[in-house]
Parts: sequence; C-alpha cells; structure tokens
Amino acid sequence: MAKLIFDHNGDETDLNDDSPIAEACEDAGVPFACTEGVCGTCVIEIKCGKENLSSPTKEEEDFLGEGCSDERLACQCRIKNGTVRISF
Ligand code: FES
Repeated sequence: MAKLIFDHNGDETDLNDDSPIAEACEDAGVPFACTEGVCGTCVIEIKCGKENLSSPTKEEEDFLGEGCSDERLACQCRIKNGTVRISF
C-alpha cells in the first residue's frame, strides 16, 4: 500500500502500489484539464518521496524538462509504493 500526503492540509490518501495519483489529486483539489500531459494545468511539487513515483513520462520531460526539478504532472505519474508528500 502506498500513501499520498497533501502538504497544505496534511490529508492522507492510501493508494494501491503502482496506481495513478490523478484521481486522488483531483479529489484534493488539483486542477486538471487535458489529462494527457500536454497543458501543464496539473503541475504538483513533490516535497518528499519523489523516488516513490514512476519515472517521468516523455510528456513530463517535454513539459518540465529532463530530471531537473521536483515538479511532476499529476495526470502522468503513478505512485510505486511508500509515501509521497505533494503540494500544489
Ligand atoms: S492535465 Fe494537462 S498536463 Fe496534466
């Protein structure tokens, strides 16, 4: 079981290992638009545990740059296991 923690209010959501985080993020208030990694609306900042997320997709690398920041696109990444803390 994996856990997503939202930095602004401390809310926690349990997710199955290797599952998308989009729905949990949307429930927490992260805005979405294209859901395909193109528009950048769903950018989140990874505060802790970025190693517990899937590798950035090609869409994320195109939008955010390769491996250079703690930002991810919530519509693209999956949580592998462990705990990830995000803000948006
Ligand atoms: S919703 Fe458009 S990039 Fe994620």
